[in-house]
Amino acid sequence: MSAILDVSHVTRRFAGLVAVNDVSFTLNRGEILGVIGPNGAGKTTLVSLISGTLPPSSGEISFEGHPISTLPAYRRARLGIGRTFQIMRPFPGLSVLDNVAVGALFGQGGGEADLKRARERARDQLEFVGLARHADQRADELGGPSRKRLELAKALAMQPKVLLCDEVMAGLNLVEIDEVIEVIRRVREQGISILVIEHVIKAIKSLSDRLLVIHHGEKIADDAPDAVLSDSRVIEAYLGRRRA
Ligand SMILES: Nc1ncnc2c1ncn2[C@@H]1O[C@H](COP(=O)(O)OP(=O)(O)OP(=O)(O)O)[C@@H](O)[C@H]1O
Ligand SMILES: [Mg+2]
Repeated sequence: MSAILDVSHVTRRFAGLVAVNDVSFTLNRGEILGVIGPNGAGKTTLVSLISGTLPPSSGEISFEGHPISTLPAYRRARLGIGRTFQIMRPFPGLSVLDNVAVGALFGQGGGEADLKRARERARDQLEFVGLARHADQRADELGGPSRKRLELAKALAMQPKVLLCDEVMAGLNLVEIDEVIEVIRRVREQGISILVIEHVIKAIKSLSDRLLVIHHGEKIADDAPDAVLSDSRVIEAYLGRRRA
């Protein structure tokens, strides 16, 4: 399998705290890579380092063989790196449709050239994630589960080659989780490579080809889901102290 994303010895410090410590891994083309770890482990920081909203303190990240660590986030989005945000931040005054259209305007390859085309693509994405009936509602009026889908639609409208999902299932009930899993599977069928952070072990196990475990900023496991979830270091670090 060939890597589309290569993270090599990446470290990120915040003042005295090492949030991500010398982490290396690859995301292969067409793969779904699950990322788990306790609260504060450094998962979101890792996604921010890949998408470019934070620069690394050291280390290198390559996308399709090219170093990207010094590129600003918008350039990485144009190359094809899309992400969702754990702390959701829709543009509050805009409709659901136009929130997604913004993604379509700034996506891979430079995005759609005009608003009409962007809205067309946004409509397709809302259909895809099951939000079509909310298209004309104001984004800040959506409930929690729908906001998660909106985050996905915004990222997908950028037509990414790599999608970074940060806890898109948090706060959802079991039925809603299954629906989002199905959406993510269909995203992969489109040829998109996916990194998915999730606390719901059952969900991430069934979804992922491989699991990466982060603990205190360090990678402590990277293997097939069954092997990772029976690893004693992982059980001690994560499963033994699962969030309430
Ligand atoms: N901008 C920042 N400034 C200072 N410290 C930060 C910043 N962002 C994250 N941190 C710290 O870095 C560590 C890793 O945080 P991060 O959000 O990456 O964890 P996480 O694994 O995503 O946790 P969760 O499961 O709760 O989402 C934490 O100790 C956090 O407090
Ligand atoms: Mg997080």
